[in-house]
Amino acid sequence: MADVMEKLVSLCKRKGFVFQSSEIYGGLNGCWDYGPLGVELLRNIKEAWWRAMTYREDVEGMDASILMHPRVWEASGHVDNFTDPLVDCRHCKARFREDYLTEAQRAAGQCPVCGQREVLTEARPFNMMFKTFVGPLEEESARVYLRPETAQGIFVNFLNVQTAMRQRLPFGIAQIGKAFRNEINTKNFLFRTREFEQMEMQFFVKPGTQDHWFEYWRGERWQWYRQIGLPERRLSWHQHVGDELAHYASAAVDVQYEFPFGWGEIEGIHNRGSFDLTQHERFSGKALRFFDEETREKVLPCVVETSIGASRTLMACLCEAYREEEVNGELRVVMRFHPRIAPLKVAVLPLVRRDGMPEIARRLVDRLRPHLPIFYDESGAIGRRYRRMDEVGTPFCVTIDSETLGNGSVTIRDRDTMAQDRVPLDGVLAEVERRIAAWQPPGE
Ligand code: GAP
Repeated sequence: MADVMEKLVSLCKRKGFVFQSSEIYGGLNGCWDYGPLGVELLRNIKEAWWRAMTYREDVEGMDASILMHPRVWEASGHVDNFTDPLVDCRHCKARFREDYLTEAQRAAGQCPVCGQREVLTEARPFNMMFKTFVGPLEEESARVYLRPETAQGIFVNFLNVQTAMRQRLPFGIAQIGKAFRNEINTKNFLFRTREFEQMEMQFFVKPGTQDHWFEYWRGERWQWYRQIGLPERRLSWHQHVGDELAHYASAAVDVQYEFPFGWGEIEGIHNRGSFDLTQHERFSGKALRFFDEETREKVLPCVVETSIGASRTLMACLCEAYREEEVNGELRVVMRFHPRIAPLKVAVLPLVRRDGMPEIARRLVDRLRPHLPIFYDESGAIGRRYRRMDEVGTPFCVTIDSETLGNGSVTIRDRDTMAQDRVPLDGVLAEVERRIAAWQPPGE
């Protein structure tokens, strides 16, 4: 299975999905760059989330800055609690998280890298927030943090959004943005990185109703994964107990996806109670209460949070899409993305570079491009061009052939079934849109 990850990382580079950051300088660990197809895929995932979460009356969108007042992170508990247990190997100098050690390694003080026994230091808390300075002086009073979660930008703007939009409880605020964590160990490609994007929503509710809303958002979030093509059989819930609970949460469940290397969290749903707003009231000295017109009371809301990693979800979509198939004795690599998130929707291919076919194809591209991301390709045998499109997950290939010259019809080839149907040139857009809307994962 590790093999699949290797192939996927290689395909991502070759086809322009994901590149190692600063590769020509040897790379920067835990950071990745999205290429032309990767950025489109990521945008489509974020767009699907944004539509599902904010195109409704009770959730507003926002976009807070990455740098925030340093007191925010004292109030949120991140300065004191956002730590991982760090151990060093005295022999080979490797560093890793203590909670990644097996029981046997822990008991023997054995380094998982060099294998030496009784070489590990005591675990010490390592704060994962990146630090920098605001202004020219690098002194303690100028220190700020790169946000480790987007959520706090929402909490500190709770009343601004509520009053501006005249919202009443319950209502939510959603945002998508970068988060930074100085992870001790990065691993598994995009799964654990130091810079990543989160899509978070804080739902503010009347105290006493948070359990109901926790269950509601569990249901909503589970449904969403089907919209981006992740099947239920590869999703599961993981309930947090005891030490697993983050310092702010009284209840938490993860949505897990079955990656080639095993089950991994892609989303956390948390009951944060009134922890964050209480803390921000205390540290800022400003009331963050909702005035209930009906009861004439000021209410400190409780919060149900849905927090999903955009980059981790993208990686789940890449893993889900990757297939190797044998077709006529040859290997076909195909990325079976849900057409809604596929970076390219249609390839337009003139069968040959003569008889006016490229000109007809170009006119079709001009007509389709305002509506959909299109790829035009006239080089190489048609079979090879289909394979190239399969490898980047383009769901539909439209071919202009000799019949087009006679009756104005073209073929639409389906990526998954490889079946070809004829449609009139001016019916291509409607047919593609119909197929995108009707798409079901093969075999479901
Ligand atoms: N505001 C709550 C919060 O940040 P979290 O469980 O720490 O909760 C939420 O993070 C999601 O962010 C995770 O489910 C994961 O998808 C993503 N995430 C967290 N750390 C990450 C990392 N180092 N690399 C990539 N994604 C990460």
